[in-house]
Amino acid sequence: MTASAPGPAYDIHPGNVTEKVIASFHMRSERESQLLAGLVTHLHAFAREHHVTHEEWAKAVGFLFRCGEISSEKRDEFMLLSDVLGLSSLVDMTDAPKGATEGSVLGPFYASDSPLLPIGADLRASPEDAPLLVRGVVRSTGGGGVPGASIDMWQTNVNGLYATQDDAVPDDALRCKMHCAPDGSFHFTTVLPGPYMVPDDGPVGELLRAGGRTAWRPAHFHFLLRADGHRPITTEIFIAGDPHLGSDAVFGVRKSLIVEPVTEDGQRVVELAFTLAPGDA
Ligand SMILES: [Fe+2]
Repeated sequence: MTASAPGPAYDIHPGNVTEKVIASFHMRSERESQLLAGLVTHLHAFAREHHVTHEEWAKAVGFLFRCGEISSEKRDEFMLLSDVLGLSSLVDMTDAPKGATEGSVLGPFYASDSPLLPIGADLRASPEDAPLLVRGVVRSTGGGGVPGASIDMWQTNVNGLYATQDDAVPDDALRCKMHCAPDGSFHFTTVLPGPYMVPDDGPVGELLRAGGRTAWRPAHFHFLLRADGHRPITTEIFIAGDPHLGSDAVFGVRKSLIVEPVTEDGQRVVELAFTLAPGDA
């Protein structure tokens, strides 16, 4: 979008400011130009359509400022904002590879430094916690197991806290990276995760309360799945019967991602099957 808007640069009025702004950018790729032009067009259209006042605009800018202020390495308020506005879920669904497991939100608690553990590892914070066996397989859309597939999993404890939030448990519990077996299979022992509320002591929490919304999320496991020659998938697995399945604060629940634990030889088991679609890793 390199064409310049008509008239001298300083001749700016409500009728041409959108074009002027778009023409002022000289991005390095056609895609960046397209996205930026679209963003400016929709932002300006929003302000025009709703006759946004100076006071409302200042409030919105202040809200974003406070989102930045409360963010840290362990807390991403902008990610949370994207999640509660349903933008994360929308992108998950519209950018989904065909035939693959449905995606779901990454969420603000992903820690990329989870320990690489062998198949069969025990991720519990304490050996006294009621064990849950998670058994799964990563397949390709063609049907076969994906050799060399890897998983990255993180979940809350039964109390609804991630290990990184709970000083009472080791920081690297309840999360792992794991290389699947050559047939795409993996398993580990863990606990049933507990539901939790998204952090609501910041600006996003104010927004939820102002809208009469709940901050609760149904219990879930997070999975990031990768394999050479396949598109990676970020998704979540939910537990059947959770009271928050129908009111997830971040709109992450999909029917296909709900599982029902079964009992096998007195042991609680969850069986998972993921599908990756071919593509660039
Ligand atoms: Fe989560």
